[in-house]
Amino acid sequence: MNIGILGLGTVGGGVVNVLSKNRASIFARTGEEINIVQAAVKSLDEEIICPTADFDLTENALAVVNNAEVEVVLELIGGTTFAKDLVETAIKNGKHVITANKALIATHGNQLLALAKSHKVHLLFEAAVAGGIPILKALEQGLSANKIEWIAGIINGTGNFILSEMRDKGRDFADVLAEAQDLGYAEADPTFDVEGTDAAHKLAILASMAFGSELAFSSVSTEGISKISGEDVAFATEMGYFIKHLGVTKKIGEAVEMRVCPTLIPKTQLLANVDGVMNAVMIKGNAVGPTLYYGAGAGSEATASAVIADLVDIIKGTLSPDTFGWQALEPISKQNPDEVQSVFYLALLVADKPGVLAEITKTLAKYNISIEQVLQKPAGNNANISIITNRVKMGILQAAIGQIEAQNFNQESVKIIFVEMLN
Ligand code: HSE
Repeated sequence: MNIGILGLGTVGGGVVNVLSKNRASIFARTGEEINIVQAAVKSLDEEIICPTADFDLTENALAVVNNAEVEVVLELIGGTTFAKDLVETAIKNGKHVITANKALIATHGNQLLALAKSHKVHLLFEAAVAGGIPILKALEQGLSANKIEWIAGIINGTGNFILSEMRDKGRDFADVLAEAQDLGYAEADPTFDVEGTDAAHKLAILASMAFGSELAFSSVSTEGISKISGEDVAFATEMGYFIKHLGVTKKIGEAVEMRVCPTLIPKTQLLANVDGVMNAVMIKGNAVGPTLYYGAGAGSEATASAVIADLVDIIKGTLSPDTFGWQALEPISKQNPDEVQSVFYLALLVADKPGVLAEITKTLAKYNISIEQVLQKPAGNNANISIITNRVKMGILQAAIGQIEAQNFNQESVKIIFVEMLN
């Protein structure tokens, strides 16, 4: 199988290295040699992490997608403009495409998948979600007997690394982010990691594959990790929870809920104990029950492992001609945010005066919101109050919070954080 590679950075260089070190075992699985014909880099002067002597190296990416010898193009440059042009050209030239580019698939996937289908080639992207974890293959193949009920995942390694280091070592946000960048975990624009955009790209892909709905990145409600304070981490821990930046998608009736936001998870759940750059995805199927997949969510050879798995699938010719194994993807019906039901964690900073806690609980009771746990600690002349509610609709909770915020004892707006019990 002749392949062309666009980009020899962290992922592309990793692919060349893994293909080289595992040549014999990959051949034993496929019965076919994988031959790198040509690779494109931004500059021939840049430092490259893999050997390049055995193939043609060019600065002209179009030469690779137009190279008649190339049968499969690996798009590993990222971005959604030039990368999109290259992928389209490759597909129109009748080449299969494998990409690790979650932004490209999440935003233009519907159109690109249709184009691939019309040209009878495959467009595969296992490496786009959760790095080295074969999560798309698990959904499409291993869980194909199930109706998927929900998915909850830690799907951004950089964000998880930052939260873990801040919680366990008290390290500074900027310092940990710089380390994640040095290690090659972070996106070219690291705000994609900390603001949740990268995780939202991946969640949109997971939801589509799980529920057979079209890719709908713009329907993911996204919140970053910057609103989490040291007090939240400490209070949550005392109440029995860890805070994770979680991607969650659920099918409720015909509607699909998709959100990426800081979320409390019971400390006793395995998912709550996934730290550092590691990713983990929990999937609940209606036959198998809850399942959990864990592994490196970023990094050179871990991501290369997923890219090469797609290549092996193409060589073996065992892929379904349908998108994600669904005969057709349906338009998505987005869950009304007011109707989203969950347990919630509320953080309030209030004046430390008699009757304040009573006023808060009275308002929650008025909206029929039951309280699971309350924790109060002094904060100078004020008090930090954290509350964990029972299950309630977001619309009702927001109405109650609006009434609480209208009282003059509040020192700042009330923070609302989702709690997922994962059962
Ligand atoms: N920046 C991403 C992460 C890389 O940290 O998870 C893998 O998609």
